[in-house]
Amino acid sequence: MTTHTIRVEPLGVDVPCREDQTVLDACLREGIWLPHACTHGTCGTCKAQILDGEVDLGDASPYALLESERDEGAALICVAQPRSDVVVEGEVDMDEGVGVHPVRDFRGRVDTLEEVARDVRRLVLVLDEPLSFNPGQYVLLNVPGGHQRPYSIASTPTDGNRIELHLKRSENGVATERWVFSTLSAGDEVTLSGPYGRFSFRPMRTQPILLLGSGTGLAPLKSMVKHIAENGGEHQVTLYHGVSTKADLYDCEFFEGLAASNDWFTYRPALSQEEWEGRSGRVPALLAEDYPRAGGHVAYICGSPAMVQDTMKALMKARLFPRDIYREDFFDSADRAAGANVVRSPLIRR
Ligand SMILES: Cc1cc2nc3c(=O)[nH]c(=O)nc-3n(C[C@H](O)[C@H](O)[C@H](O)COP(=O)(O)OP(=O)(O)OC[C@H]3O[C@@H](n4cnc5c(N)ncnc54)[C@H](O)[C@@H]3O)c2cc1C
Ligand code: FES
Repeated sequence: MTTHTIRVEPLGVDVPCREDQTVLDACLREGIWLPHACTHGTCGTCKAQILDGEVDLGDASPYALLESERDEGAALICVAQPRSDVVVEGEVDMDEGVGVHPVRDFRGRVDTLEEVARDVRRLVLVLDEPLSFNPGQYVLLNVPGGHQRPYSIASTPTDGNRIELHLKRSENGVATERWVFSTLSAGDEVTLSGPYGRFSFRPMRTQPILLLGSGTGLAPLKSMVKHIAENGGEHQVTLYHGVSTKADLYDCEFFEGLAASNDWFTYRPALSQEEWEGRSGRVPALLAEDYPRAGGHVAYICGSPAMVQDTMKALMKARLFPRDIYREDFFDSADRAAGANVVRSPLIRR
């Protein structure tokens, strides 16, 4: 396989990249961090200018990389592969206190696979080597048939050998319905790579934290909560977890226990389609009730693109600046086909 050289500007660093490898993958494996979120050509976060050389633009969504942008030499580097030596210009600045962990391949075994809520499974994998990551990041699971799917890590970096994932069943989904919810069993071997993503806990930001998740969007937020707990609870944290009905709620005992014994943590589960002893309503509406003014907080949102978008709007209406909001959209193949919710504003962070 032919290998080309990727020069990353403004760093002036050279990285080897095979023709069957993406520019982003080559950089991340060499410890050169460039902005990215979905890693499947859908969100547009990894858009970069190709200053010199040729790339195959790969499976870039036409909604995330417009024809005019292609003509001007832009590429989505999470799907673009080199066809010559290439010079790429990326936004290489990292926030203070956020570690760079080179992407590596891992082999693991299924330790636990359990149904924790309706159509939600907790998958615990024991890896052959510890995975270093920032709380909030994700792995790419290799799925039978040559597919890869991103899943956020719900455990913390202190236990890098043993990672916890939360998977929601997708109708006819290749990773979920046809694999994790059908043939995968305890003891099976699984391969993956990681860590990926810019959605990670910013330890240097000392403001009170709002963690806002829907469904399995709880996973990276759980990693952040556990990480903060392991480090002595030095941040004030309020976690909202929105689901449809009580049957969709999970890990309540864990969060209730943590809230009962720690002043720094508040847990607010909510059901959008059922009345119960707790709060009912969607997370954006509850936020608007609880925080008519949210300025002075830092927020992390994770879940379906629609929920993330609505929550983002609610926070901005409550006067929280985009620079204080981090988001992870769980884009899937259907979102990709529809070109949904591609974020174009440079002010909005992923
Ligand atoms: C950064 C990131 C992190 C994520 N983390 C998590 C997580 O922690 N937990 C979690 O549960 N999910 C997470 N997701 C979503 C996850 O990666 C998968 O997209 C999801 O599990 C579905 O995968 P699948 O292979 O089962 O379904 P897919 O086969 O990808 O299909 C998904 C849905 O789209 C439909 N579909 C497929 N192709 C098309 C098409 N061409 N047109 C229209 N519809 C189509 C399918 O029928 C199905 O209903 C994350 C996504 C991202 C981007
Ligand atoms: S990270 Fe490349 S398009 Fe989303």
